[in-house]
Amino acid sequence: MSLPRLDEDAVEQLPPDIAKKARALLLSLVRPHLAMAIFLLVIVVLTALFLVIGPIFIADALDKGVPQAVDGDPGPLIWSVTAFVLSAIASAVLAFASTRLVGITAQKVVYQLRSRLFTHIQRLDLGYHERSTSGRLVSRQTSDMESVQQFLTYSLFDTALALFEMAFIAVTLIVLDVPLALVVFLGFIPLFFITKSAHSSQRNAYRRTRTSIAKVIVHFVETMGGIRAVQAYRRQPDRRGTLKDEDTLYRDANTDALRGVAWFAGWTRLVGNVTQTVIIIVGAWLVIEDWTQIGVLAAFILYLRRFYGPLDELVQAFNLYQSASAALEKMAAVLDTDPEVVAPTSPKPLPAHTSGQSANASDATSAREWAQAPSGRSIDLTHVRFSYGDGPDVLPRFDLRIPAGEIVALVGATGAGKSTLAKLVTRFYDPSEGRVTIDEVDLRDLDDAQLRSSVVMVTQESFLFAGTIADNIRIGNPDAGDEEVLAAATAVGLDPYIRNLPDGYETDVKKRGGRLSSGQRQLVSFARVFLANPDIVVLDEATAHLDIPSERLVQKALATVLEGRTAIIIAHRLSTVEIADRVLVMDSGRIIEDGAPDELVSGAGKFAQLHKAWRDSLV
Ligand SMILES: Nc1ncnc2c1ncn2[C@@H]1O[C@H](COP(=O)(O)OP(=O)(O)OP(=O)(O)O)[C@@H](O)[C@H]1O
Ligand SMILES: [Mg+2]
Repeated sequence: MSLPRLDEDAVEQLPPDIAKKARALLLSLVRPHLAMAIFLLVIVVLTALFLVIGPIFIADALDKGVPQAVDGDPGPLIWSVTAFVLSAIASAVLAFASTRLVGITAQKVVYQLRSRLFTHIQRLDLGYHERSTSGRLVSRQTSDMESVQQFLTYSLFDTALALFEMAFIAVTLIVLDVPLALVVFLGFIPLFFITKSAHSSQRNAYRRTRTSIAKVIVHFVETMGGIRAVQAYRRQPDRRGTLKDEDTLYRDANTDALRGVAWFAGWTRLVGNVTQTVIIIVGAWLVIEDWTQIGVLAAFILYLRRFYGPLDELVQAFNLYQSASAALEKMAAVLDTDPEVVAPTSPKPLPAHTSGQSANASDATSAREWAQAPSGRSIDLTHVRFSYGDGPDVLPRFDLRIPAGEIVALVGATGAGKSTLAKLVTRFYDPSEGRVTIDEVDLRDLDDAQLRSSVVMVTQESFLFAGTIADNIRIGNPDAGDEEVLAAATAVGLDPYIRNLPDGYETDVKKRGGRLSSGQRQLVSFARVFLANPDIVVLDEATAHLDIPSERLVQKALATVLEGRTAIIIAHRLSTVEIADRVLVMDSGRIIEDGAPDELVSGAGKFAQLHKAWRDSLV
């Protein structure tokens, strides 16, 4: 059987119109700050104006002020110098204000982008996350974000300033002398082509830097996540080797990008200097022919220096811009991915519980007097067919009815499709064909919040988040008070262990994570379920590695948690089956046996064989 394609790079591939999407994304981010953007634009224009106007006052002071002062009239000189000083102060104030405002706005934009990305990533379906590694998403949130931030904070304003400064100088040049100005503008033609070719060649290089740094981060995150396996199997040299390869690709991509920058910088300098030379020659000729004055020529040469100065800044900014736009493209691609499991537009509620459906929650429920007694709901899978993506059918055709309150144990060989079935019942995936219903409501029509509160999946990993044990139990119901957390922990038999920890319920699991055995972690996840109080529990059991006492403990806790609910337990240990009302034996996506545990054990089927082998292993 060929496995469905789980191609990392397929997830990474950028849609063809991504540059447009990235621009649209940037625009949507800036739009809420439009007023500020316009204000900043005004500041840019003013700053550029003051920068360009300064030399005019100096020229004025030299040309007219000084001679008049010599003649005994210091007025014009004082005026020119004062004007120059004022323009200097004004540009200082503007520089402060603009840097400050750009900083604040850029941070706001990046903050927004970061939270939008995070929200979206959390919304993406499990299928997306199973196809892509978290490292790639980490790189979106870190190195790509950093690149966008750098551009917005440091270069966007400088670019605008440089452009305006150049525009004002161009206008000044025209006012000073049209033919000479035209010579300067001729230099723009090669500049245009240089910029164009640098843009397209560098864009590729910068896209490669984003892809390769993502690979470096993916590799790093994976190595850290699997550090136990890495150390246990002495894979360090191997991992280091791979990292080296990926680092090399990143280095090469950066080198290529910077070579582009160097070419660009070199060409612009050359064009600048050639233009100056031409201006001197043509200007000298014009002066000789008496078509212009030497002062104008001097002003031209001074302004040309300033004219090509901003070009250097533009080169730098261009560099950051290329990097940031490649990063933005990557983020736009993530934001452009729609979850395959979508919330219904007009959600249907589940029918209200009738009292008859309510389970016989009697004796063991004193601990949950505060909570509503659990009640099960029926589950139906009708004509379900399922495959991951374009892969082969994992569930070729599936029909199953589980009445409310029934505890079903699902057993079968590895790869039989048990976890897949669990993911359909909890709507982490939608079936390729057919429907999954709870109390006759199609999961695709069910309100997402209600789905998540009535169906809880306990996964194999029993993940603990950074924080205290109490916080970790409270994940089942964030509104639960301390008493309820205590009641839940007591109900599943976790309380005595927690009391033994140095800070009890307030023990930080990050620091004390090592103190929780896998059995205890499992109990934490049961306590979560207890707090969440769902109608349906789907449990992908991970008890295969528990010792016998822990196993007993977990079985007991499980019985308490499941009481009164509908449950599907993927049982890897046959002892779990003992608490089930019904056993389903799965093979290659089909149910090959279905019956009460005793019935199957005494039969001659697959389950009877498995059970016999298990009993033999116990003696
Ligand atoms: N995310 C996925 N993408 C593609 N194929 C998958 C994915 N998850 C599982 N499969 C494939 O689907 C089939 C059923 O897998 P599933 O996880 O449901 O098996 P299982 O019965 O839970 O096995 P186990 O007992 O080992 O947990 C397997 O062939 C597996 O390779
Ligand atoms: Mg599984």
